[in-house]
Amino acid sequence: MSELTPAIQTDNLTRRYGTLTAVDQLNLTVPRGVIFGFLGPNGAGKSTTINMLIGLLPPTAGTGRVAGFDIRQEPLEVKRRIGVVPEGMSLYERLTANEQLELAGRLHGLTPAEIKQRIPPLLEIMGLQGSGDRMILDYSQGMRKKTLIACALIHAPQILFLDEPFEGIDPVSTRALKNLLREMVDQRGTTIFFSTHVMELAERFCDQVGIINKGVLAGVGSIAALRAQAGLPEEAPLEEVFIRTVGAEVKDATLLSWLTGRAAGELPAGG
Ligand SMILES: Nc1ncnc2c1ncn2[C@@H]1O[C@H](COP(=O)(O)OP(=O)(O)OP(=O)(O)O)[C@@H](O)[C@H]1O
Ligand SMILES: [Mg+2]
Repeated sequence: MSELTPAIQTDNLTRRYGTLTAVDQLNLTVPRGVIFGFLGPNGAGKSTTINMLIGLLPPTAGTGRVAGFDIRQEPLEVKRRIGVVPEGMSLYERLTANEQLELAGRLHGLTPAEIKQRIPPLLEIMGLQGSGDRMILDYSQGMRKKTLIACALIHAPQILFLDEPFEGIDPVSTRALKNLLREMVDQRGTTIFFSTHVMELAERFCDQVGIINKGVLAGVGSIAALRAQAGLPEEAPLEEVFIRTVGAEVKDATLLSWLTGRAAGELPAGG
């Protein structure tokens, strides 16, 4: 992949489920060496997009290129260069984390020596040192997620696709993972494409963001650019930019007056 080839480029990428168009003629370019945050309301099409890009789900129309290879014509070339944690991915319950990582390493063509060398520091950075010999069956939710992330990293991929990677991960491991991903981007030119609902994280961690809404790209670029596009002042938080960009109406709690004790139009107590 030359310096100039984008890490990810989609060309009218579309996915329909029956009559529902989950991703609608998406045209998105992600340059190499950036952390790209993919944002959007529930059901907007984030996971569907990621799953098409990583070869888990065939597009209905259009296509995309990942690491310079066509996702429809050259899926194996794509798979060689990427690390993935798709939504709802599971592990083999009866393997230990060590075995799971070894399997991931072998599938990516690493030598036994490389695998042996890489597993301990991967477990350590995820805070799983000492748990490598335990079966996944006995792991907590967050420990499983961390194992999945470690599996996606073992072959040092050029491009990482992570669907809500920080969900369920404790603050200490989140910090370690963020530091690691940033180093991979800054030192090796790795590209990170990840979805999240955590606006504070996206705001501080991403070089660029894309906001998808009902299958359509509603905005893409730096947060400053999206803020300007939404007509918001410089200090406006990303949450505000997001709500404005997707044109969402934030539902009023007074809809549930039987829960809040306050009817629509009534002022808060003491207010
Ligand atoms: N296998 C499926 N069959 C039918 N419809 C589906 C399927 N998978 C997703 N959809 C629909 O496609 C749309 C996009 O779903 P998708 O999972 O891509 O959203 P998302 O942006 O990842 O949402 P979330 O933030 O909740 O994870 C939704 O309307 C969803 O109901
Ligand atoms: Mg999703």
